[in-house]
Amino acid sequence: MLFLSMNAVLLELAITSVVCATPFRESVSKQTPKDFAIPNTCTTINHRKSWNALTVKERHEYIEAELCLMHHPPVTGLVENATNVWDEIANIHISQRNDIHYVGQFLPWHRYSVRMHELALQKLCNYRGAHPYWDELTDYTNGNVSQSPIFDPITGFGGNGTGYDGCVVNGPFGKIKLHMSLHHARGNEFCLSRNLDQSSFAEGIATNVEHCFGFANYTDSW
Ligand SMILES: *[C@@H]1O[C@H](CO)[C@@H](O)[C@H](O)[C@H]1NC(C)=O
Ligand SMILES: *[C@@H]1O[C@H](CO)[C@@H](O)[C@H](O)[C@H]1NC(C)=O
Ligand SMILES: *[C@@H]1O[C@H](CO)[C@@H](O)[C@H](O)[C@H]1NC(C)=O
Ligand SMILES: *[C@@H]1O[C@H](CO)[C@@H](O)[C@H](O)[C@H]1NC(C)=O
Repeated sequence: MLFLSMNAVLLELAITSVVCATPFRESVSKQTPKDFAIPNTCTTINHRKSWNALTVKERHEYIEAELCLMHHPPVTGLVENATNVWDEIANIHISQRNDIHYVGQFLPWHRYSVRMHELALQKLCNYRGAHPYWDELTDYTNGNVSQSPIFDPITGFGGNGTGYDGCVVNGPFGKIKLHMSLHHARGNEFCLSRNLDQSSFAEGIATNVEHCFGFANYTDSW
């Protein structure tokens, strides 16, 4: 899955997941080795949908919730130079990068991370939807990826990056300042950059995905 950008991987991992409203940790603690069934305590279904399946209103609600996280004061207070929850979430990924990529815990770690992010949206920013996912295969099949609904400047994440720095200049994140990256000094402000590579998406075609899923373990599929 090297060819997928990390954002794409995160969105991809959310595919088809229907997660119980019960907090993940609670579900796990009730399990015994002989009984992996999640207790039947769900009262609502957290239905994750493809971006393209969301209504325009639902797309705006999701984007608004993400912007809310970017303006919400830090909740852990453990991350130096973090100015908001978004910075804290980004740091979780950055600081553990050497332990969560190219290894067997890649998938479970990122699934857990998506769930954590989803709970932050719901509990800190009153987001009532589930975390959407990007069905990038469908968008690639439809042609030029930069023209996908997900990159729409009005109803989506904004378009491809432009200029020397590849900064995204339109859409809801066109003006945000980020603070956590391996490529900048800690705490520095920088733009959201994006460089969509049409040929990289070609590697994510269904036959390649099926091929990877056909392996018995992560090591072989990698
Ligand atoms: C995709 O569309 C953009 C405009 O949205 C254009 O600038 C770019 O050249 C196109 N890329 C390809 C590979 O056709
Ligand atoms: C990051 O935090 C440290 C103190 O923990 C401070 O010395 C430094 O100036 C901060 N950097 C920025 C860019 O704010
Ligand atoms: C995105 O923009 C970069 C230049 O910033 C360009 O090289 C690339 O072809 C663009 N991607 C698409 C899919 O249009
Ligand atoms: C992965 O699966 C293959 C084929 O079943 C096996 O030979 C190999 O030892 C496994 N590797 C790990 C790390 O479990």
